[in-house]
Amino acid sequence: MSGASIIDGRVAANAVLEEVQVEVQGLSESGVEPCLAVVLVGDDAASDVYVRNKVLTARKIGMRSIEHRLSADIDEARLLALVSELNENPQVHGILVQMPLPPHIDPDLVINAIDPMKDVDGFHRENVGDLALGRAVLTPCTPTGCLYLLKRVLGDISGRHAVVIGRSNIVGKPMAALLLNANCSVTILHSRSVDAPAIARTADIIVVAAGKPRLVDESWIKPGAVVLDVGINRISEDGKQRLVGDVYFESVSRVAGAITPVPGGVGPMTIAFLMRNTVLAAKQQSAVTKTVAAHVLAASSLRV
Ligand code: GUN
Repeated sequence: MSGASIIDGRVAANAVLEEVQVEVQGLSESGVEPCLAVVLVGDDAASDVYVRNKVLTARKIGMRSIEHRLSADIDEARLLALVSELNENPQVHGILVQMPLPPHIDPDLVINAIDPMKDVDGFHRENVGDLALGRAVLTPCTPTGCLYLLKRVLGDISGRHAVVIGRSNIVGKPMAALLLNANCSVTILHSRSVDAPAIARTADIIVVAAGKPRLVDESWIKPGAVVLDVGINRISEDGKQRLVGDVYFESVSRVAGAITPVPGGVGPMTIAFLMRNTVLAAKQQSAVTKTVAAHVLAASSLRV
């Protein structure tokens, strides 16, 4: 029997997408048609599904998208040339290069070759720096989606103790920065932390992005805490394939106040915030300067 309320990420993502759709329509009517370019290198099955979902969602909300599928053995230089072409194309507002890339390509080089104004992943070092300084426009989609869910459940999160489990550049670190910018007291736990469950038990908010199936059970949770599970792990159990998170859902839901399921929790938020970032990128590029853009965006309903 579950004590926690279940946070429905599909419902929350649809609410975001509805707002984004209105913004896409408004921008298009004023002559700026937001457009996302997605680049997929190689034929990794999971990446293929992610890219297809991104393009389908864009279509669903009336946003233009362009897909570039490149063979796994493409030269790094040719990929960089494509990025440069997309940077120069005024009709493209957002560029996403799906990770992981084949081992002969340096992901840092590719990410930092993207125009920061078009970096809808928020991975470019300039956007990472702006996030640390608390003035980023384009912030990583998954943690931004998590912040949105937390505010939807808790309202103002100022002063809460938030524990982030995992320190990846894609989720853990930007999540911690976003929570700090939202006035939380933030702790990051990772594989070298000493007595992680005891520290986690002091948290009002826990975001788990460790990449370890069912790492977090109820012994990590303060009663009533809000728990977001970013993990997606395929495991085989009782001879069946199952998708589980980094949180042991059946255990944690006995003590948490609210929890995201896997699937249907954080996952749908990532794509919704990619669409939202593409709209923000289009607005930012149609503004005269980045400073003007920041003022425009501060007033936007899409700001989390
Ligand atoms: N691969 C897995 N997640 C992501 C993401 O958020 N962005 C990109 N570009 N690649 C990914």
